[in-house]
Amino acid sequence: MMRRLNMTPVMLYMILHLLQAAWSDPVIPRVVWKYGEVSLFKFSQTGVSNYSTLLLNEDRGVLYVGAREAIFAVKMSNVSYKKYEVYWKVPEKKQKECAAKGKSQETECLNYIRILHEFNNESLYVCGTYAFQPTCDYLSVKDFTLQGKKEEGKGKCPFDPAQRYTSVMVDGELYSGTVYNFLGSETVILRSHLRTEYAIPWLNEPSFVYSDVIRENDNSLDGGDDKVYFFFTEVSVEYEFNSKLLVPRVARVCKSDHGGSRILQKRWTSFLKAKLICTLPESNFIFNVIQDVFILKTPNWKETVFYGVFTSQWSNLEVSAVCTFNMSNVEDVFSEGKYMQSATFEHSHVKWVRYNGQIPMPRPGSCINNEARALNVNSSLMLPDKTLQFVKDHPLIADPVKPIGNRPKLVKKNVNYIQIVVDRVRALDNNSYDVMFVGTDKGLLHKAINYNNEMHIIEELQIFPDPEPVQTLLLSKGDKKYLYAGSHSGVVQAPVAFCEKYKTCTDCILARDPYCAWNSQNKTCIWITKDDNYMSNLMQNLHGSAAVCRTEDVESTSSEEHKVEPRGFQELKCLPVSRLAKVIWMFKNKTLSENSKYRIVQNNLLIFSVTKEDSGTYDCWTVETVKGRLYKQLVKKYSLIVEGQSKVVTTSPTAPFTKMEGNSATTQTSTDKGRTSLHTVTSQIQTDVLTSTVSYTSTSTLATPTFLVPVADTKAVSEPSTAERNDRILLTFLVLITLLFLMLVGYNCYMKYLPSPCLKLRLYVVSDGKKPEFDYDVSEELVKQQCVKINSDNQNSEQIAAGDKGYETESDCGNGKIPNTEKPQELKQIQENHSIGSVDTEKDADIPDIKFIDEEAQSLC
Ligand SMILES: *[C@@H]1O[C@H](CO)[C@@H](O)[C@H](O)[C@H]1NC(C)=O
Ligand SMILES: *[C@@H]1O[C@H](CO)[C@@H](O)[C@H](O)[C@H]1NC(C)=O
Repeated sequence: MMRRLNMTPVMLYMILHLLQAAWSDPVIPRVVWKYGEVSLFKFSQTGVSNYSTLLLNEDRGVLYVGAREAIFAVKMSNVSYKKYEVYWKVPEKKQKECAAKGKSQETECLNYIRILHEFNNESLYVCGTYAFQPTCDYLSVKDFTLQGKKEEGKGKCPFDPAQRYTSVMVDGELYSGTVYNFLGSETVILRSHLRTEYAIPWLNEPSFVYSDVIRENDNSLDGGDDKVYFFFTEVSVEYEFNSKLLVPRVARVCKSDHGGSRILQKRWTSFLKAKLICTLPESNFIFNVIQDVFILKTPNWKETVFYGVFTSQWSNLEVSAVCTFNMSNVEDVFSEGKYMQSATFEHSHVKWVRYNGQIPMPRPGSCINNEARALNVNSSLMLPDKTLQFVKDHPLIADPVKPIGNRPKLVKKNVNYIQIVVDRVRALDNNSYDVMFVGTDKGLLHKAINYNNEMHIIEELQIFPDPEPVQTLLLSKGDKKYLYAGSHSGVVQAPVAFCEKYKTCTDCILARDPYCAWNSQNKTCIWITKDDNYMSNLMQNLHGSAAVCRTEDVESTSSEEHKVEPRGFQELKCLPVSRLAKVIWMFKNKTLSENSKYRIVQNNLLIFSVTKEDSGTYDCWTVETVKGRLYKQLVKKYSLIVEGQSKVVTTSPTAPFTKMEGNSATTQTSTDKGRTSLHTVTSQIQTDVLTSTVSYTSTSTLATPTFLVPVADTKAVSEPSTAERNDRILLTFLVLITLLFLMLVGYNCYMKYLPSPCLKLRLYVVSDGKKPEFDYDVSEELVKQQCVKINSDNQNSEQIAAGDKGYETESDCGNGKIPNTEKPQELKQIQENHSIGSVDTEKDADIPDIKFIDEEAQSLC
């Protein structure tokens, strides 16, 4: 049944897809570096995998790498240079025990290093999953040996290597957020004997992503405490939803918390949590899963901001966002916000509401500060029962933490951001800019910046040969900064900038990369360091104005000479740096358009039927529009010399040719020249760089590449010929076919022969644009439910369950109403025609019947 209509849904899908593409991604990376296009340092060891735990010690110049059953120390300046290694395997007996509990002996019952922290000057603190029996040890830095202490790792390190966790070492004490038992049912935030309650209001299936300490200011007026913050996603208690609704959270505990004396014994008395908000205001799109956090620490914590990467729980639409938050706001929420309170309604239904009643003193959940000391409370052990009982029942704050500017700093479609680091860079204009480095689940790094609410992705860098998640991302602090990324397959070290890859002034400046500046003296794009800041011949413009460059580029490109014989075709390559630029090819200073003679394939120019007349210079130009200004750059210049006798060239327009493109040779005929003529004139661009002023128009059609067509004086390029007339006929033909096709789709859609996307469209058109999706979904659902009900009521044994694919539903529904009609036999006949004999689009006679059943079904169901 689907077979016959195969063509149309596919085409319809394509059209819808194109439409969706036209809604467009607001930001695309300006430059893309594929794997191997820039040099990176790599580290991996044969037989070892899962390099997901990294620790940087810049004083020692070492990067520590925790992998599966091994720990390495590699040079920070070049990770491919290994200094030390130590293996930490699980004894076979333990592996067998683990396997006996139903875990995989080959993968899960191994020792995945999950925690690597500086313990003191001589040793590191290391924990591994140790075949589902988390275990910790100390690693001597000098000789790189494990001390064999085998401490209990429960509550510090996860049991399951696939579980998310977080930990931070603060003044020699480990704070961790992880699973506490083998089954994974108990989760804790823990510091030695102090932990969270096992209660849903405290933690509800959390997935921990990050934790860190924020130190109190030295001259703090309120005598506050250092605080440890935790970031995680958990199942909400405060929203009622028909499935588990996730919420991103920030929680904090105070460093000098020792638990309560009677209530909350060995539990945090300072655990409070709040919701983080990251929403796109104009579409109300909610990013409710937090994936990673980076805290940009400042000497005064009140100026500290942190960056979070978010995705959505409904991951069928891949969208990611970066939101920034103000630490002062977080602390305000914890110290002044209202508490949430659970209330039981009839039928023991629990609802969470804002608590507006009396709050005991000292304020529940706050650190011991001067205010508490004034009440004679000098330690959490002295807190009154009222305060403790209150915080035990009210760990959730009602007020959320809103992002700075009330909107994301970056939103990107079709990616899943899972890691982030941020660098605050001082640019030549003496302002500081926050450069975000975001890692995706497919091994890409995006380097992005937000200029006054304008999102700009400077570069996309592929750091692994095959797509795999960036599991850990670190940034060094030195003068020449590096990024370190850990993954299943290895560790990669990448510089934060690739300035030297920008060969022209315009490209260097339009990159809008605060790390890079154009040195006008020796004409290079350089990575600026602190000392360079004072050099006067450096140029940078982060607003995207490259006006200073304009005169230089034209002269600087020398032409590449090609001597060829008259033959089938010639390919001239052009590799523009920027993906935001459009490519134009010129021959003898005239813009070339695509026709039977010329084709532009992936920016390269193909010339067919090469003859002596084709000798001359070919220029590849790019046009990049930044903030309404056009930048034209000469990327490549060829001088083509066609030699040898000018014999008749054998390529006829219909003869097939083979072109080598990418990894496969494709054979096609050159008769499909009609496709180039589908253009509409949109705007006129004046060229001001060229000596001979050629005016041309930019042309574009929806979702097809843009061609540039000369308006004046096209003669020299291609003479109007029979070929061109053929083009026109072909075009007319194509337009007719398209129209016919659209009519066919329209008709089929109106008649409901097509699946849901079309039905939505139809409903939209027919119902004068009243909320299409919702109505449809609801009505479809109702119809289905009703049909199932009727069907089961009538105990009709031959029934197929209410279908889930398009029009079959209607047949089933027709089935359901049989007992209500006076002539069941006839209807059954009709129904059988449809469900067995397929919906026949060609047979006119069938159409009214379908419609009839359809109407009946609707009135009934
Ligand atoms: C953070 O909040 C504090 C206090 O409200 C304010 O002074 C500061 O400017 C804010 N910082 C940012 C980056 O918004
Ligand atoms: C370990 O690495 C392998 C690939 O080498 C991957 O398939 C697996 O999921 C990784 N396991 C964990 C727990 O990271």
